[in-house]
Amino acid sequence: MMQIALNLTWMNVSWDLISPFVYRNLWPMLFTIIGGMQCQRYAEIEAQKGKSSDDYSRSIDLEKKYQIIYADPPWKLQAGGPNLHAKQRGNRPLCYPTMTVREICNLGINLRAHTSDDCVLFLWTTNKYIEESYRVARSWGFSPSTMLVWCKKPKGRGLGWTFGISTEFLLFARRGSVRAKERHWSTWFEAARRQHSQKPEIARDIIDKCFEGNKLELFARQKVDGWDCWGNEVDSDIEL
Ligand SMILES: C[S@@+](CC[C@H](N)C(=O)[O-])C[C@H]1O[C@@H](n2cnc3c(N)ncnc32)[C@H](O)[C@@H]1O
Repeated sequence: MMQIALNLTWMNVSWDLISPFVYRNLWPMLFTIIGGMQCQRYAEIEAQKGKSSDDYSRSIDLEKKYQIIYADPPWKLQAGGPNLHAKQRGNRPLCYPTMTVREICNLGINLRAHTSDDCVLFLWTTNKYIEESYRVARSWGFSPSTMLVWCKKPKGRGLGWTFGISTEFLLFARRGSVRAKERHWSTWFEAARRQHSQKPEIARDIIDKCFEGNKLELFARQKVDGWDCWGNEVDSDIEL
């Protein structure tokens, strides 16, 4: 952008003259293109839903019980407006399907059969859904224990109104008696922002460090070594 501005100055075109055009038209246009690419991925996810279970070669292990559940639900949120510099923001839909709190709670019914009596849950939530995350944890049969905080570097206007959102939350909840193999020194961690809704690897590292057992990631986007997964963007190891 700097380079364009310099070239334009050289061509005797004032940046003040064209910047309204850039901010009002060019940025939204770029966001629309990027949004379109994300929506293409969403369409692929929807197409996957049509697959019958016979399409999956991997067989599901019905006996396996998990002691560690790591979940990042598709809470109903907006992805932010097309123009981060404009005042009217917050009306761009997410490019993956979302679920109501009730739908997320209901997953607990089938999840119970896959989990041990002694089990821990790490549940991602946002500012908007902190209260509901406690409800989800309880409905899945866990007692909420500690809220861990992911601190991100503030970025300009970004999301949020009075306060720019620069934190996300990971609720730790437990059932039965699971002893941590190691104590972690803090309830917050700092990590760089990644792609939209992508969580930092440090969260998984902390879980790996503190707990051992069979690990299951819910709403996973990719298969990670040492973890089983479930979600509409991955070949799931369980059915819910
Ligand atoms: C917040 S994202 C997960 C992000 C992931 N933790 C990461 O770090 O990249 C929520 C995921 O849940 C998926 N999802 C939405 N509705 C679903 C459903 N009904 N069943 C399974 N997965 C669903 C979305 O497609 C998306 O991949």
